[in-house]
Amino acid sequence: MEVYNKKQEISAKINLFKAENLNIGLVPTMGALHNGHLALVERALKENDKVVVSIFVNPTQFDNSTDLEKYPRTLPEDVKLLKTLSENNILVYAPTVDDVYEGNTVAEAYDFDGLEHEMEGKFRHGHFNGVGTIVKRLFEITTPHNAYFGEKDFQQLQIIKKLVEKHNIPVKITGCPIYRESSGLAMSSRNTRLKPAYLKAAPFIYKTLKDAKKHFGTKSASKVTEWVENEFSNHTILKLEYFIIADAKTLKPVNRKYKNKAYRAFIAVYADDIRLIDNIALN
Ligand code: PAJ
Repeated sequence: MEVYNKKQEISAKINLFKAENLNIGLVPTMGALHNGHLALVERALKENDKVVVSIFVNPTQFDNSTDLEKYPRTLPEDVKLLKTLSENNILVYAPTVDDVYEGNTVAEAYDFDGLEHEMEGKFRHGHFNGVGTIVKRLFEITTPHNAYFGEKDFQQLQIIKKLVEKHNIPVKITGCPIYRESSGLAMSSRNTRLKPAYLKAAPFIYKTLKDAKKHFGTKSASKVTEWVENEFSNHTILKLEYFIIADAKTLKPVNRKYKNKAYRAFIAVYADDIRLIDNIALN
């Protein structure tokens, strides 16, 4: 399996594949790969001849320098894991910050028709400009036919679809389900940083989402939200940042329920200084 650090080199290789009419899939990641990432890569391998996995901790999407500094970086282990999926059909792109940003490490400003102002956009300042900037560059460098993103970051997935639509980028975006630990905790590279007591407590997040889903059958969105906020106010170590029930398409918070609309609940929780997010389809 080849690991590329330079955009010109991986682009040249991809152009050779395309000249042979091979299909290219892209799975963008920040590394510290877990089974959720690997499921995206497996899906991409099924649907494409060659799969590019990018591994890059993108500085412009972090609004918290400690989070950026402490983000786990485990490239040799990541490469080993990817080799178990395919020796020949995966290309890793693991660039330096300079290779991507060429000395100008700033995000471009995007208009995602309001999607960027909800939830993560409110609580992580500039986050989606950083995500938009890196993903657009990755699309330009790797020119994939297909790209795969997890519903774990549901808002990000919707924003990438919007990015592609607004900039007429010829790539098909596929969303993949959330992978969880047997405890229910959504897999995340940040979980490796959880101290034992927090790791033990964290499955409460998904448990509460599932209970919220049950309540949403009979209660209003605001009553369910109140119930969740109360559950967390009684919790000794997890701190709720937000719980929001939103329209799955517009991501706007819901006041009144309509039968023909899809709703989703979104949550962000602090476990010590580690921020965990999760979400669930409500109907
Ligand atoms: P990262 O957090 O590494 O996630 C890479 C991809 O894996 C994203 O599409 C994410 O939604 C998906 N993913 C993460 N955990 C998952 C889980 N438990 N189940 C299913 N999919 C999961 O998201 C990013 O990186 C970055 O913002 C990126 C898109 C790479 C841009 O820098």
